[in-house]
Amino acid sequence: MRIVLGVTGGIAAYKAAELARLLMQNGHEVQAVLTRAAEEFITPLTFATLTGRKAISGLFDSASPEATLASSVEHIGVAQESDLLLVAPATANALAKFAHGLADDFLSTTYLAFRGPVVLAPAMNNNMWEHEATRANLDILRRRGHTIVEPGEGMLACGTFGPGRLAELPQIVDAVERAAAVRLRDLDSETILITAGPTQEPIDPVRYLSNRSSGKMGYALAQAALDRGARVILVSGPVNLNPPAGAEVIHVRTAAEMREAVFANLQPATAIVKCAAVADFRPSAEARQKIKKTAARLSLELDPTVDILAELGKKRGDRLLVGFAAETENLEAEARRKLEAKNCDMIVGNLVGGSGSGFESDSNEVVLALRTGETVHVGRAAKREIAEQILNQFLKLRRAAVSAR
Ligand code: CTP
Repeated sequence: MRIVLGVTGGIAAYKAAELARLLMQNGHEVQAVLTRAAEEFITPLTFATLTGRKAISGLFDSASPEATLASSVEHIGVAQESDLLLVAPATANALAKFAHGLADDFLSTTYLAFRGPVVLAPAMNNNMWEHEATRANLDILRRRGHTIVEPGEGMLACGTFGPGRLAELPQIVDAVERAAAVRLRDLDSETILITAGPTQEPIDPVRYLSNRSSGKMGYALAQAALDRGARVILVSGPVNLNPPAGAEVIHVRTAAEMREAVFANLQPATAIVKCAAVADFRPSAEARQKIKKTAARLSLELDPTVDILAELGKKRGDRLLVGFAAETENLEAEARRKLEAKNCDMIVGNLVGGSGSGFESDSNEVVLALRTGETVHVGRAAKREIAEQILNQFLKLRRAAVSAR
């Protein structure tokens, strides 16, 4: 997501640099816009270095008329190209300008030209925070649907104790993610069929073959897709998770049941995300009674299961097809090989076997091999964030597919 980070002139401005870093870590692009007062506290160069983009600090008071014209057009561009506007810290003055529609610098004009979600994290002296004028401005901004990340209590720069301290940075990042999820309905024309979790292949009435998949990645994808407006059909193997509200859930146990459920629900799907860790083999025969431990050694005969993804690759029509590859080595090469072999648009390569990513973990680290030839590395992040990144790439592929028609 493209975020405009507006920084206004308060002592907490220095914290905005760390905030920019955290947003980048979550996979967002950050365009910093500093007010002139902010520049008294922190330099544009700090943000340019952290975000890889020139920070905008230009005002309309430039000496040359051309520069003034360029910058007044630029703020419309910035507003149009961005998905969310975050202002942190937001001074009492900035809140007043936004509330009343004053547009006298780059940030306030960007605010007026912007149509997406707005998150404001105020920071100021406690008396200013509690002043009736500030309260009234905040009411206006709340009624407008903006998210206000309330400041915390603490020792303030002016030496007093009270409310007015910029909220903790993770709290601001959370508010940004939530505001974006609610407003970003960019998948509302999609019906996505998602498979998740492991399969269980019965050996006898009490035992089965399975794997360590927890279903967390698939469920995070389902939740993220729902939040972005998609209809979600979730075909789930046995997991210990509550299905996301709003998903149409079909519970299955074996690879054969998963295959049946997938093809029975293929028709309405505009896209398929095959996140499940399907068993590659199943016992050739399921014993009707519990196998007793009479033999000194027991061999299990296994047959391969049907590769659902490979079959989908042949029957997908013009649906987008995303597969997963869980690997313990050669991640990128294997992801690319499976992309070709199974006729997919994207393979999400997942390193498993270590800690902090893969099965059971709440976080993950993946490589996205795309049909376009591009490879995107997504560093360690929460599975929900990884899900958002997968969906962002998915949308890029969708746009490319539409324009190729
Ligand atoms: N898959 C499937 N049906 C199977 C096995 C796998 O649909 N019977 C899908 C998985 O859902 C996943 C992808 O294929 O999206 C890759 O699964 P993986 O086990 O990593 O790959 P395999 O093709 O089984 O290759 P290998 O075991 O050689 O790594």
